[in-house]
Amino acid sequence: MITRDSRVKDLLKNPIAHDVIGRLVQYAGVSESLILNPVVKNLKLSAVPKFAGKRVKDADTIVDTMIDLFNQEGGTRPVSPSSGKAWWKEAVIYQIYPRSFMDGNGDGVGDIPGLVQKLDYLHGLGVTALWLSPIFDSPNDDNGYDVRDYRAIMKEFGTMADVETLIKELHERDMRLILDLVVNHTSDEHEWFVDSVKNPDGEHGDYYIWRKTKGNTPPNNWNSFFSGPAWDKVNERDEWYLHLFSKKQPDLNWENENVRADVRSIVGFWRGKGVDGFRLDVINYISKTSLDDGNETLGGLLGFCGIEHYFYGKRLHEYLHELRVGAFQDAFTVGETPGTGPEMNKLLTADERQELNTVFNFDHLENLGKSRFDDYRYNLNHLKKCFIGYESDYADYAWPSVFVENHDNPRMVSKIDAREDYRDAIAKLLAVLLLTARGTVFLYQGQELGAVNVPFHDISELRDIESVNRYDTMISDGTSEKEAWQTVLRGTRDHARTPMQWDAGEYGGFSEHEPWIRVGDKDECNVEMQTRDENSVLSAYRALIALRKEHPALVYGTFEPFEANKEDVFCYFRDDGAERFYIEVNLCARTIRRPKQAAETELLFSNYIAQDDAMQPYEANVYRVEKKES
Ligand code: NOJ
Repeated sequence: MITRDSRVKDLLKNPIAHDVIGRLVQYAGVSESLILNPVVKNLKLSAVPKFAGKRVKDADTIVDTMIDLFNQEGGTRPVSPSSGKAWWKEAVIYQIYPRSFMDGNGDGVGDIPGLVQKLDYLHGLGVTALWLSPIFDSPNDDNGYDVRDYRAIMKEFGTMADVETLIKELHERDMRLILDLVVNHTSDEHEWFVDSVKNPDGEHGDYYIWRKTKGNTPPNNWNSFFSGPAWDKVNERDEWYLHLFSKKQPDLNWENENVRADVRSIVGFWRGKGVDGFRLDVINYISKTSLDDGNETLGGLLGFCGIEHYFYGKRLHEYLHELRVGAFQDAFTVGETPGTGPEMNKLLTADERQELNTVFNFDHLENLGKSRFDDYRYNLNHLKKCFIGYESDYADYAWPSVFVENHDNPRMVSKIDAREDYRDAIAKLLAVLLLTARGTVFLYQGQELGAVNVPFHDISELRDIESVNRYDTMISDGTSEKEAWQTVLRGTRDHARTPMQWDAGEYGGFSEHEPWIRVGDKDECNVEMQTRDENSVLSAYRALIALRKEHPALVYGTFEPFEANKEDVFCYFRDDGAERFYIEVNLCARTIRRPKQAAETELLFSNYIAQDDAMQPYEANVYRVEKKES
């Protein structure tokens, strides 16, 4: 039990405290050594506010909120290693943003029949499962992450029969389907919400988080992730409802057991159709511990006020366990869990706790203290540090998911080094890191081509609600148009949402009709061109996926970093007893000395054609190590 008499060093033994402190250090961009400093380590929590001084005016409340949060877990519980083989551990999962993958009916919007046409391409690439961003009926305020009917297909995407065909065609190719289940919130057009508004005392009256207040002030100071307050008032009910995302995405009230039973029944419906797994949208937000005001200092640091009350809510584990036992059973689950850290993630995914199979950890996506809207160049040494963390201690207890791109982030190649000269090498370097990692691999459409950010011209070209709201808020706060645009352009999620580039045709082979969002550099980067080129990024992905499938050591083998303290290089071994591999990567744009190799090796893959004593910019190699007869 943590109290005000506990010392800072005691906190690090508590899983939540361990991760929260790590996060705060990361957001504040301060060095971890601050916490390990003997004076700080021995501070009693009651002394922290004084130590923090005037800089943190509400430190007392922060300490109390944190103590409550930390005491949700009674200390690190022993967790057994993630054991046994499973299809989802070996899987290379390819994420599809259905709106932008392939348009089968010529209306400028991607759809399921279009996707079915491309299954041979995906099978040929070697991916073993597809995760589709939401395909359910939706008014599309947030492109399907606002579901109106979980048992119907979005009209623009096709019909239930199309989805059944997709499942059949996938299974015939020995591939699997993972759906995106968005159940922290629904659309405000979902029949539950419509009924909840109309009949406060009816069946769905309590399906959402409603509160009354006096006057016109929201129930608390929480922010929405899409700008503005997290509450909106409905005059008909004369009450406010919570929406952590857009106002058309009201949060479900998971305290209501009928909500949970309905979610289980939706899962059952899709399992009945043969779906193999689920990606669970912001699943760590479903339990709201309290609706108290968020701490403003923390809010300032994290960019959003209120998070401490729901990012790891009191009943989260209970809800997940109930879902696993009552619905998912052996279906694969990957949780999207923004803000949790490695110790919490172990608790969310440890085999014996029966909650989730794996979760996405986002730590590696931005450098310390940075967000995707900041103007900076990503340093790959940070990726190395995070990967060593995921692959070492963490992977001994829990099964990681590894990825560098998804539909919520600009392209990783552009983040690292936007210079055209290095595009090819960096794209292949990322492929090497992912496909030699211990963990389930997730690729995002276009990543296999080395896709880069799109040179959008102005706000009228963006479609994403997050970008548009952010831009409008900046303008109304007095930011100049130029600055607002440059900020939004850096971080917009639309960089990843433009149409898949199949060929150099007018709309990149995606559609015959003008697409719903503009197309990127299809003349320089497309599937047709890269298929013909054996040195293309696409060919590299094909080769590396095949290598991973052929050698279980690359999936299940141990991960042993080599010369880990050397800046700018990342070297490691993967070994399953039968085979041993050595991976060697130059993390920077300079030519550097090649680290000395201890053993005889055979080069299996390189992103450079010729090898030299020095390592070229962003060079990445995979070797097989000669095993000595024992
Ligand atoms: C996370 C999803 O990945 C993102 O695209 C969406 O906007 C929010 N959750 C809200 O559902």
